[in-house]
Amino acid sequence: MTAKPLRIYCESFGCQMNAYDTEGILSLLEKHGHTEVVSPESADCIIINTCSVREHAEQRAIGRLRDLSRHGGAALVVCGCMAQRLGLTLFDLVPAVRIVAGTESYSLLPEAIADAVERGGRFAFLDGGSREVEVRSPRAGGRVSRYVAITRGCESYCSYCIVPYLRGKVRSGSSSAIVREVSRLVEGGAKEVTLLGQNVIAYRDGETGFADLVKRILEETDIRRLRFLTSHPRDIGPDVFELMASNERFCSHIHLPVQAGSNRILAAMNRGYTRETYLDKVRDARARVPEIAITTDIIVGFPSETDTDFGQTLDLVREVRFDSAFTFQYSPRSGTAASALEDDVPFAVKRKRLHALNAAVQEVRTGILRAQIGAEAEILLDGAVRKGQYRFLKGRTPQFRNVLVPSGGLRDGDVVHAALKRLANFTFVGEVVTEAET
Ligand code: SAH
Ligand code: SF4
Ligand code: F3S
Repeated sequence: MTAKPLRIYCESFGCQMNAYDTEGILSLLEKHGHTEVVSPESADCIIINTCSVREHAEQRAIGRLRDLSRHGGAALVVCGCMAQRLGLTLFDLVPAVRIVAGTESYSLLPEAIADAVERGGRFAFLDGGSREVEVRSPRAGGRVSRYVAITRGCESYCSYCIVPYLRGKVRSGSSSAIVREVSRLVEGGAKEVTLLGQNVIAYRDGETGFADLVKRILEETDIRRLRFLTSHPRDIGPDVFELMASNERFCSHIHLPVQAGSNRILAAMNRGYTRETYLDKVRDARARVPEIAITTDIIVGFPSETDTDFGQTLDLVREVRFDSAFTFQYSPRSGTAASALEDDVPFAVKRKRLHALNAAVQEVRTGILRAQIGAEAEILLDGAVRKGQYRFLKGRTPQFRNVLVPSGGLRDGDVVHAALKRLANFTFVGEVVTEAET
């Protein structure tokens, strides 16, 4: 316990798991008497949680750290994946940094921060030292939608990916603790929980696998909607699709990163599936859950990717009909298997492919959304939006599609049925057709 309460300012880069960890760190520091502040100017300590997945993510974080260095006396703390990867060199890259904390060391932060602020000095924690950080589940959107991490780490070793080197082996939380956490969130007003993991399908607690865990949460809690992020196409199977088909609280959406459409590139990526087996999974999912939405991640410009390989990625996008996709240019990460391959697709070609891919993704997405106009959908409302003189509430369908409805008489957390009237930039504008279910 520190003598002096400190003002802590925090920023998070990277994936949902990082957002999750940031909340855990803040929760721990609050238990030690410190308070979160919303601007860096008034802070005694500035914490930046960082990402290393692409070079660009690191450059952004370093740029931000250099900006924040100019805030004078605050102790600058770097944690997360880039802290784990760059370690002590961060002290050279950004001399104002006082603490570098790797992804497994957050329970050491309260003491280190107090020391750094009161007595000066620099600290680095990179080999772990703690496995558990106290959990404060972050907000996925407003107060009604929250995240719960169920696995940490990854052992898939996709050849391009740095995550397994920074996040360690797969560890799963206890199923009883996860059920309790979901119940606690429901008591606090949550209507939707997204289960998080680099590959949630790898979840295992004794005999309990991912589908068993989902079943338990649906049976033992009153959570209105359950989702998950992310699932590996190699591992997901009929048990998950069947649960989705039979329980409307388990939302009909899977994020199923395909990465590439060419079998040669998929093999070089060490993804563990082919174009054909991926398409089989998609067909099985749609046969069991006809209304399912499938979203994805795609990388362009992996080493040796030809125009023909890339053409197969474009074809796959049109064949699967993804609801949406996160698209990336390949970025070599030192220490990964692919970093030994020559990064031989010129930047200009990567950029051209990314543009062509984004155009294809948007065309498919527009087609899917337009086909829904006139239909009715269940919407969980999770925040207010003002457009000129009109007030709307925004929400999501089970498929994770965005909808705005006029706000009259409705509140965050309400579940309504709405007729989808028109589209404005990939967001439906709807009209409520049933009373709110609260
Ligand atoms: N564990 C998750 C997410 C991993 S990171 C999953 O497997 O789905 C999110 C996305 O970043 C990946 O799906 C991939 O598309 C992209 N990515 C990872 N490493 C990359 C790299 N070196 N260059 C470009 N994109 C990368
Ligand atoms: Fe990276 Fe592959 Fe693990 Fe996802 S599954 S975190 S892409 S190694
Ligand atoms: Fe980035 Fe680490 Fe997440 S590298 S994507 S913050 S696991």
